[in-house]
Amino acid sequence: VQRAATAVSELARNIVSYTPGGRLKLEPIAGTPPRLRIIARDQGPGIPHLPDVLSGKYRSKTGLGRGLRGVKELTASFDIQTGPAGTTVTAEVLL
Ligand SMILES: Nc1ncnc2c1ncn2[C@@H]1O[C@H](COP(=O)(O)OP(=O)(O)O)[C@@H](O)[C@H]1O
Ligand SMILES: [Mg+2]
Repeated sequence: VQRAATAVSELARNIVSYTPGGRLKLEPIAGTPPRLRIIARDQGPGIPHLPDVLSGKYRSKTGLGRGLRGVKELTASFDIQTGPAGTTVTAEVLL
């Protein structure tokens, strides 16, 4: 739950900070173990420097070591689709 809350908070913060708006969706998935799928979709400008962000070349302004790299480390699966029409992050946390 802590991992899920941190991932949701970082993704929500990015939507508020960098885009005109978006949506967060939480989907519980039954199984052993159960999972929570987090989908963050926005209509912002996209992340053209995504490779630098994920490789650590771009240092997060928060300096907390969180941000998108942190979300990737916290989650069991992580995918970003990004372009000029917006960004969708899909991540799953094992519960
Ligand atoms: N949803 C988004 N839309 C557009 N740009 C984004 C989005 N999320 C992140 N970014 C860009 O990627 C950078 C890195 O994000 P992140 O890893 O969360 O660190 P931080 O938010 O602390 O800068 C941000 O500074 C911003 O330029
Ligand atoms: Mg951030």
